[in-house]
Amino acid sequence: MPLPPPDIVRAAYAELAVTDLDRARWFWVDLLGFVVTRADQDALYLRGYDELTHHNLILRRGQRPAAARLAYRVRTAADLDLAEAFYAALGSRTARVPAGVTPGVGEAVRAEDPLGFTVEFFFAAELPPRLQQRYDLRRGAEPARLDHFNIVVPDVRAAYQYYASLGFGLSETIEDGDTLYAAWMFRKQTVHDVAFTGGDGPRLHHLGFFAHESHQVLRICDILGALHEEARIERGPGRHGVSNAFYVYLRDPDGHRVEIYTSDYFTGDPDHPVLRWSVRDPRRRDFWGHPVIPSWYTEATPVLDLDGRPRPLLPEQQPAEVKVGADGFTSPAL
Ligand SMILES: [Fe+2]
Repeated sequence: MPLPPPDIVRAAYAELAVTDLDRARWFWVDLLGFVVTRADQDALYLRGYDELTHHNLILRRGQRPAAARLAYRVRTAADLDLAEAFYAALGSRTARVPAGVTPGVGEAVRAEDPLGFTVEFFFAAELPPRLQQRYDLRRGAEPARLDHFNIVVPDVRAAYQYYASLGFGLSETIEDGDTLYAAWMFRKQTVHDVAFTGGDGPRLHHLGFFAHESHQVLRICDILGALHEEARIERGPGRHGVSNAFYVYLRDPDGHRVEIYTSDYFTGDPDHPVLRWSVRDPRRRDFWGHPVIPSWYTEATPVLDLDGRPRPLLPEQQPAEVKVGADGFTSPAL
């Protein structure tokens, strides 16, 4: 019998290892427009303009590109005890992290979860001045807040079941009669806090950051084009079928993928339906039927364990969506 899960509020921040902190600052701060809450010798702590807490993203100098952890905020300090007990009962390695080890974050619980990711749960956080209406400061894509983690897992159904046991709701899927190819799950009342892409895993597929308006998605593309950095635009801009979001995917100097994402919808009604997309519907990944570039399916960021060592990759356990699904390459007779 699984123990009660911690009451998770939302996806809160991620820590990425980057090989050149100055280049990373150029991309994330100077171009994308993130706010620097704190900078030290080895790391940058960044947030969006709407963010309440200290940071949405830590960029830490590392030997090779990696995702160190994915952090969720919980509702009360008591949820840290629930998180520790929940993961201990699953047989996961856990660690208590004292307040202040991560600047701006109180005591935390970390765990190596059943999917192979290092996840963190925290309640207390420093609240820096909010910059919601500092329009004078906004730059680049004008990121507002972290929206979601998209993770690559070998078995999407197992990932769905684990996150359901953590209390996440299901908003949308890509599937056919036999296979769950992808799923979107939420705690906050939007389409997702976490989504699963099938593939060799565990890997981080992308971090999704919310912008308020579609023109901010277009503006960052124009900025990258003007600087002859157009190769950083991997996929889009476009309209997703799943989530209805307007999007673009970019790659940072280490290859970490970031999505600028806007205009998804409210999922808080208790009888909110699950939207199920056929893997053969070419509108599911791009509502206009545009092809998904193969690198989007195959490339992703390795993840680290609690000690900062790379996690071994397990091969995909199910048919690959890129081979089964229609992605604009198959056009019906016009
Ligand atoms: Fe996304």
